[in-house]
Amino acid sequence: MIKGLIFDLDGVIVSTEQHHYLAWKVIADKLGVVFTSKENELLKGINRRDSLLKILELGNLTLDEDKISDLLLEKNKIYLNSIAFLDKGSILLGVENLLQTAKENNFLLAIGSSSRNAKFILDKLELSSYFDAIVDGSMVKKLKPDPQVFLMAAKMIYLSPNQCIVFEDAISGVKAAQRGGFRVYGVGNPNLNSYVDDYIENLDEFDLKLL
Ligand code: G6P
Ligand code: MG
Repeated sequence: MIKGLIFDLDGVIVSTEQHHYLAWKVIADKLGVVFTSKENELLKGINRRDSLLKILELGNLTLDEDKISDLLLEKNKIYLNSIAFLDKGSILLGVENLLQTAKENNFLLAIGSSSRNAKFILDKLELSSYFDAIVDGSMVKKLKPDPQVFLMAAKMIYLSPNQCIVFEDAISGVKAAQRGGFRVYGVGNPNLNSYVDDYIENLDEFDLKLL
């Protein structure tokens, strides 16, 4: 029986996936690497450092550690500037309603995100208090597609993977959930259709009553 809902953050709860993409695009352009929304699919859900390494791989480039650190800082600066005005209006369709209804029906709620900015963003959106556990990119050693982030989230709400549903918009996140033994819903990214049995355009399409 499903007792817990675990949400990815960027692209599921809030429209920040686009901001990540545009910030990486600035870095990729600077490095002379061709980077469109197609290449960006490879980065979704992946942590900051691994994302940069993927861009370098795409461009057949190698950089020393100092340069890598500089670029990671720069990307995060661009990203944080671009989300400075993020507020409740940036919450994706159906999110608040689902969180509210799930709470009223005693489901346990968690976030499983690779982002080190996850807590900051949830506070900005005034959503933090809905969640019984928030696992972000600073709390686990292995990030998506490894299942650690979701396994830790399930553990923190005292549930086993088969008692939880994971909501994900990224291929890496879908793989992480599947490897962890979770049932996973693909959200808002048609590229996921061939990876998941359950797909919804947004959380408004998800009906708790069907569980
Ligand atoms: C999420 C996003 C990725 C992002 C990663 C790291 O998983 O889907 O696009 O690169 O978090 O985010 P951060 O905020 O720590 O740079
Ligand atoms: Mg995501």
